Amino acid sequence: MSAAIRFLMCAPDHYDVDYVINPWMEGNIHKSSPDRAVEQWHGLFHLIKDRAQVDLVQPQKGVPDMVFTANAGLILGNTVVLSRFFHKERQGEEPYFKAWFEQQGHTVYELPKDLPFEGAGDALLDREGRWLWAGYGFRSELDSHPYLAKWLDIEVLSLRLMDERFYHLDTCFCPLTDGYLLYYPPAFDAYSNRLIEMRVPAAKRIAIEEADAVNFACNTVNIDRIVIMNKTSEALKQRLMDADFVVLETPLSEFIKAGGAAKCLTLRVTEPIQELHHAVAAVESRTIQLEGHLLDSGLINSALDLIVEGGGSFQVLNFRLGEQRQSTSFAEVKVTAPSHVVMESIMSQLIDMGAVAQPQEVCDNPLELVIQDGVAPDDFYVTTIYPTEVRVNCEWVRVQNQRMDGAIAVSQTTEGPRAECKLLRDLKTGDRVIVGVDGIRTVRKADSRDTRAGSDKEFGFMGSGVSSERRVELVVEQIAWDLRRIRDQGGKVVVVGGPVVIHTGGGDHLAHLVREGYVQALLGGNAIAVHDIEQAMMGTSLGMDMKRGVSVRGGHRHHLKAINTVRRCGSIANAVDQGIITSGIFYECVKHNVPFSLAGSIRDDGPLPDTQMDLLQAQTDYARHIQGADLILMLSSMLHSIGAGNMTPAGVKMVCVDINPAVVTKLSDRGSVESVGVVTDVGLFLSLLIQQLGKLVSPYRVTQTV
Ligand SMILES: NC(=O)c1ccc[n+]([C@@H]2O[C@H](COP(=O)([O-])OP(=O)(O)OC[C@H]3O[C@@H](n4cnc5c(N)ncnc54)[C@H](O)[C@@H]3O)[C@@H](O)[C@H]2O)c1
Repeated sequence: MSAAIRFLMCAPDHYDVDYVINPWMEGNIHKSSPDRAVEQWHGLFHLIKDRAQVDLVQPQKGVPDMVFTANAGLILGNTVVLSRFFHKERQGEEPYFKAWFEQQGHTVYELPKDLPFEGAGDALLDREGRWLWAGYGFRSELDSHPYLAKWLDIEVLSLRLMDERFYHLDTCFCPLTDGYLLYYPPAFDAYSNRLIEMRVPAAKRIAIEEADAVNFACNTVNIDRIVIMNKTSEALKQRLMDADFVVLETPLSEFIKAGGAAKCLTLRVTEPIQELHHAVAAVESRTIQLEGHLLDSGLINSALDLIVEGGGSFQVLNFRLGEQRQSTSFAEVKVTAPSHVVMESIMSQLIDMGAVAQPQEVCDNPLELVIQDGVAPDDFYVTTIYPTEVRVNCEWVRVQNQRMDGAIAVSQTTEGPRAECKLLRDLKTGDRVIVGVDGIRTVRKADSRDTRAGSDKEFGFMGSGVSSERRVELVVEQIAWDLRRIRDQGGKVVVVGGPVVIHTGGGDHLAHLVREGYVQALLGGNAIAVHDIEQAMMGTSLGMDMKRGVSVRGGHRHHLKAINTVRRCGSIANAVDQGIITSGIFYECVKHNVPFSLAGSIRDDGPLPDTQMDLLQAQTDYARHIQGADLILMLSSMLHSIGAGNMTPAGVKMVCVDINPAVVTKLSDRGSVESVGVVTDVGLFLSLLIQQLGKLVSPYRVTQTV
């Protein structure tokens, strides 16, 4: 017996499954056998008692889960952090455990009210005493971790639990003697798994399978080289034996009905302090402010969900509800994240939603110098499509040339401070770039109750899956109205298209749109132009006769012939001028002075002389054409639509038509409320669009009278 090692247990005199606070309890109310529970508890008790000292706390009526002493608190040396149970069903245990710890002469720390922490169920010391692993996500709050670090003077590594069956850290994670770790990786998020892998070398990690995990193999009592658990597979037993552990199994089925096994039934009360190691808590907290129609737009819910899903936790510090229908609400929320990296990721997304981090305290955003052309400082703020403002000289300054995936460079000009979005490649040594996320805000249109209820909502649909035909018709009707309005008011529509437009018979329709003044710029790749010209010159698209829908003998060479002809002319415009191209989309563009830009790609044949093979130049050309656009119509080109989408600021309506819902979702997922996705065949879409335009009587066009 290792007399130096002591455990606390509580006899199951009043144990039963009386309520449901975890998935294991579901369907098991009053289903555990008291006799078997007593027998199983004694089985465990004797196994431990033969190897260590066991203290007992008096069981109490009305708190059946008191048998799970792991949740009494967390002990290190003589210090105890008492548990604050998440569920009221267990809160009655707190005074009994507190009294026991005090009787033993421990210094007992208590967390603030409403800050749940469930003791050694969610906080496990590395068996070498180097740090504390602390779980959060279901029961314990992340905000409790800095208290643990401070009171116990130890480094705390926060792990986020993801599977509600493994609601406490000790149900899926067990540090063992000699630096080994028994754990079930799918119970954790990706960040936590990375952290585990960084701290525990592969040779010491014993990752278990689900079958062992649900038998509570991680809920193990470890005494030196002995591991005591409910049950294990032969394979796991062998792996533990290979690591020099002796495995003792003892059935605990009656306790598993309540969601606990060997480890849950014990609390190790002797945990020696390692003087070498001291408090470190990577946990970070920040306060954000949100203003707007927070409740009825669902913004506050989305923000809080985002924090939790991103691996953080929150506390609402202040909430002021707008009293009138149109008045806005205000919220101040404390965000906590397990590390700086996770915090930055959560904060950037919150900023996209319109949240501001500590606006009052920030007079100037932190800036760092660029020390290598084309390379931003590590921590640079990555821009989004939303109009953004930053703090300079204690004032909000609007960022110029807003686009996503850039950095913000701040400079002083004779007219005052200037903030500008710059692509990485455009950064110059000496530029000063904003780092971090404090004092940055995006300016979002307040989504009022009225606009949400209005027709905009109907327009803004993106069906989950393939849109129904009627649905497509409705959206096309709306798009036709928009095209007509923009044209008649002298606005700008940019079309981005792929060759599928031609293959599906949509070429004539798109040519019609250009001819009728609905298109102010056309963007695409080599292929849309090649196949449009092939059709104009030979009546085929990729060798298919577009009228009869059959392949033409030798047709596969047609597009190369078309390319060759245009190359001989020097450009598409020359080919039109020389009467070689007499119809089609590009013919109409040349004839109606609609500018186009063709961006090259690795799969291009030829290419056409107009295709820009210098990609940086092509990106610049695209950006120039997109500037000032009111609507971008993206037609079946994943490559070029996403490319164009990335350089489009918020506020520009985007309509994405593609047969693949994933492509449509990807573009809509930029978070722009203005995106509309239409999952349908592009040829059909264009034909419907032309029909709809034909039906419209324009209320916008100003008829000039002489
Ligand atoms: N001969 C050539 O030079 C040649 C040929 C093909 C492509 N390319 C080049 O390759 C690059 C990528 O080409 P891309 O834009 O065609 O490909 P892409 O894969 O980026 O996009 C094609 C899109 O069309 C969608 N689609 C397919 N059938 C559809 C339908 N019936 N209705 C609606 N959507 C449909 C697909 O889901 C896909 O998203 C471009 O730069 C292009 O110019 C060159």
